[in-house]
Amino acid sequence: MILIASTTAQLTTIASQIITFAGNEKIFLFHGNMGAGKTTLIKSLCECLGITDAVTSPTFALVNEYIGARGKIYHFDFYRTKNQTEALDMGCEEYFYSGNHCFIEWPEKVPDMLPGHYISISIKVLNDDSREIIVEKI
Ligand SMILES: Nc1ncnc2c1ncn2[C@@H]1O[C@H](COP(=O)(O)OP(=O)(O)O)[C@@H](O)[C@H]1O
Ligand SMILES: [Mg+2]
Repeated sequence: MILIASTTAQLTTIASQIITFAGNEKIFLFHGNMGAGKTTLIKSLCECLGITDAVTSPTFALVNEYIGARGKIYHFDFYRTKNQTEALDMGCEEYFYSGNHCFIEWPEKVPDMLPGHYISISIKVLNDDSREIIVEKI
């Protein structure tokens, strides 16, 4: 599925389309350069799942936990992760296999830790500053 968001306001609709597309899959991997809009889209997805807390980048903790209407949501940012042992030590596998929603930024940093199936979301900034969002079931 390919979606285009010209403004962040359009992400509300896009988030609900992505949640519907995902079906029972709760693991989401986000690909895209710094500034592409990964955290912003995760914020919209969290709102779609009934979160009312503030969604921010999990800079220091590696993972943020939010309480949604349908259960917990874990939000990871592995950008600063130096090696996969660091991810293992923070218990990433327990989160990934917990059955709760997991939104993962910079999954490229922890390739061996990732589950075998997930929703892949790739965000690209287009010339007019709108975002191309490619959503695939892997
Ligand atoms: N669909 C969009 N259209 C326009 N601007 C966007 C869109 N998505 C994100 N942005 C803007 O891009 C900037 C970076 O977004 P952010 O989510 O922090 O990126 P990332 O997490 O990929 O580094 C923010 O200022 C945000 O408002
Ligand atoms: Mg981010």
